[in-house]
Amino acid sequence: MQSTKLNAQITAVGMYIPEKILDNKYFEEIVETNDEWIVSRTGIKERRKMENGATSDMAAYAILDLLKSTSVKPEEIDVIIVATVTPDMFFPATACLVQDKIGAKNAWGFDLSAACSGFLFALQTGASLIESGRYKKVIVVGSDKMTSISDYTDRNTCILFGDAASAVLLEPTEDLNMGLIDTLLFTDGSGKDALNMKAGGSLNPASHETVDNKMHYIYQDGKAVFKVAVKGMADISYEVMKKNNLESDDVAYLVPHQANLRIIDATANRMGISKDKVMINIHKYGNTTAATIPLCLTEYYRDGKLKKGDNLILAAFGAGYTWGAAYLKWSID
Ligand code: UT7
Repeated sequence: MQSTKLNAQITAVGMYIPEKILDNKYFEEIVETNDEWIVSRTGIKERRKMENGATSDMAAYAILDLLKSTSVKPEEIDVIIVATVTPDMFFPATACLVQDKIGAKNAWGFDLSAACSGFLFALQTGASLIESGRYKKVIVVGSDKMTSISDYTDRNTCILFGDAASAVLLEPTEDLNMGLIDTLLFTDGSGKDALNMKAGGSLNPASHETVDNKMHYIYQDGKAVFKVAVKGMADISYEVMKKNNLESDDVAYLVPHQANLRIIDATANRMGISKDKVMINIHKYGNTTAATIPLCLTEYYRDGKLKKGDNLILAAFGAGYTWGAAYLKWSID
């Protein structure tokens, strides 16, 4: 028997933002930096810090926020995919902890590590589970507690990152012109030296030496990453647009990963998209790694700026290197 073809569509969204705000003034007091440098080089004004809880708590809050907007019960969830590079622990997977915290007693799940591209990679993975016909309700949540791996003596990195989580619910549709229509995803491990956390894994297990050498913090060669990110994100966004016969006027919003406003502007320029059609939250939250894209979607949707049928181009670039872009047709009224 020929099975019906299915697309995965987003049917609900949710988010969690910790209360504690770290503004640029805070960083002026702890490292040699200033508001003008941070704003002009990155676009960031504030970011958030999770003070009481871990990545699984933020993910669980975001999913509970999502569930409040639907009639879906936690026990109806089939799969939970947590995109993160700051899991609560090496094992068990953060997805297990989230499953327990939200009472999704019939779900299985796993963590997906693709850094700033984590949400896009997890979205495609979740969509594939839906498209297979085997699963009906898949939660994809991007959650990162970047403050837990930030070195607050390193001005190159500590000003960049913040904590947040945001989730989407994927469900099937027989309308193949709705939901996740196309994705282009890539990895290039030769970029591993430019952006990483060196210790704690099997290569450099935790020791006094790894702690003394600050190897449990984010390391980034900003200039090197900038060069590849700015080209990588712009090219892939343009490519997914052209591959799907979209002109810039057809695109309602570019939804870019929020690492640097200059990278976002370059991507929009390459696509011929004006600033008012680019989702931005970097000024409020900094780089929240796997959470940036779903956070944008959630906030713009709740502000009434998204309507059913809108063509969205999602794009990301991150550690690995990992990068990609997606063509998503918005499916919530
Ligand atoms: O999200 C995953 C992927 N990550 C990215 O996409 C990030 C890509 N990279 C970037 O966004 C940018 O490279 C940064 C925002 C990280 C840095 O901006 P930049 O314009 O590339 O600065 P730079 O690293 O070239 O540094 C320029 C100068 C240096 O001083 P010298 O060597 O010229 O004297 C830095 O030491 O700025 C200095 N600097 C700072 N000055 C004030 C670096 N950080 C700071 C700071 N405040 N916080």
